[in-house]
Amino acid sequence: MASHNPWPDEGNTGHIWDEDLRELDNPPPLWWMLSFYAGFIMIIFYTLYYPVIPLTDKTGEFTKGLTGWTQIEEYKEDYKVLKDWRVAKFADKEEQLAAMSVDQILKDEELKNYAVATSKVLFGDYCAACHGAGGAGNPNFPVLADDDWLWGGNVKQIEASLIQGRVGNMPAKGMMGNLTDEEIDQVTDYVVALSEGKGNDAAFAAGKAVYAKGMCLACHGPAGKPLAPAGAANLTDQIWRFGNPYETDQEKIREMVKNVVTYGVNVKKDGKYIEGTRQAIMPSFKERLPDADVNIKRLSVYVHQLGGGQ
Ligand code: HEC
Ligand code: HEC
Repeated sequence: MASHNPWPDEGNTGHIWDEDLRELDNPPPLWWMLSFYAGFIMIIFYTLYYPVIPLTDKTGEFTKGLTGWTQIEEYKEDYKVLKDWRVAKFADKEEQLAAMSVDQILKDEELKNYAVATSKVLFGDYCAACHGAGGAGNPNFPVLADDDWLWGGNVKQIEASLIQGRVGNMPAKGMMGNLTDEEIDQVTDYVVALSEGKGNDAAFAAGKAVYAKGMCLACHGPAGKPLAPAGAANLTDQIWRFGNPYETDQEKIREMVKNVVTYGVNVKKDGKYIEGTRQAIMPSFKERLPDADVNIKRLSVYVHQLGGGQ
C-alpha cells in the first residue's frame, strides 16, 4: 500500500495496492440499493404477516401473524380440494355401492373392480394387523386368501363376519369336559390322521371312538368336516387355524391339536379365559370402520376375491 496518493482528485479512499490498484469511494449501483431496501421491506412484511417470532415465555407460543396463516391449514385446504375432486369423480360409483347388495356388486364386473381397488388401503389399515398382508394369515388369525372358511365363504357370509364379528367356541376336553389324558392323545392321533385322509384306518379306531364320545362331531361333523359353517374348523384339510396355518412338521401339528383339544377355544371360567385356551375373536366392524355401511360391502367383495370366495 502506497503512502502518497498520486490521484488526489478522483475520490479514492487512499488505499492503493500494487502501485495503481485503488479503492474508490463510489455509491453502490441503483439496482443494488433498491434490492437492499426491498429486502428490508420484505423482512418487515414477512414478520408481520407470517408466524415468525418464538416467544420467550416457554409456552411454545409464537407470534401468529396478521392472517393466522399456518402451513398445516394450507395443506388441509389443498387436500380438501383434491378430496372433493375425487369424491365428485367417483360419486356415481360410491352411490351404487351404497345402494346395491354385496351379491349384486359381485355380479357387476366394473363395480367389483372398483370395490377391490379401493379396498386395499382399508384392508391394510384395519385388517392386515391380524390377518396379514393380502389376507395371508398369521398364527392364530385365519387365512382369508384360501377356500377354507370357518363361517362360510360366500360374500354374504363374509359380510356377516364383518358386521357381527365372530367368536369361535370350543369346550376343553370334549363337549362334557370329561376326556382323560389318554383319550385326548387318542383323539389327537385321530385328528392328525383325518387331515392326512387316514381317518378310517383301523389304527385310529380308538381315537375315532373318542371323537364320538367327546361329541366333536356335533361341531366338526361326523367325518371332520363341519356340516354347515358355524365357526368350527375343517379338520380334514391341512390348513391349521392355530399356529402356522401351513405347518408340515408332524410333531408341531400334533402338539397344536392336542393343545386345542385340552384347553378349547375362548373357554372362560368366572368371566376369565382359562390358562392355555386359544383366544379367537373377530371384532365387529360396524362401529369401527368409517362409513361402515359402504366400507363393509367394499371389504367383503375384496376378501371374497382374495382367492377363496365361494
Ligand atoms: C383383532 C384382530 C382382527 C382384526 C383387526 C380383524 N380380524 Fe377378522 N378375524 C379375526 C379372528 C381371530 C377371526 C377368527 C374368528 C374365529 O375363530 O371364529 C377372524 C375371522 C374373520 C373372517 C371369517 C373367516 C372365516 O374363515 O370364516 C373374516 C371374513 C374376517 N375375519 C375378515 C376381516 C376383515 C375384512 C377385517 C378388517 C376389516 C378383519 N377381519 C379384521 C381377527 C381379526
Ligand atoms: C361346540 C363346538 C365344538 C366342539 C364340541 C369341538 N370343537 Fe373343535 N373347534 C370348534 C371351534 C369353534 C374351533 C375353532 C375355530 C376357530 O376359531 O378357528 C375348533 C377348533 C378345533 C381344532 C383346531 C383346528 C385348526 O385348524 O387348528 C381342532 C384340532 C379341534 N377343534 C378338534 C376338536 C376335537 C378333537 C373335539 C372333540 C374332542 C372338538 N374339537 C370339539 C368347535 C368345537
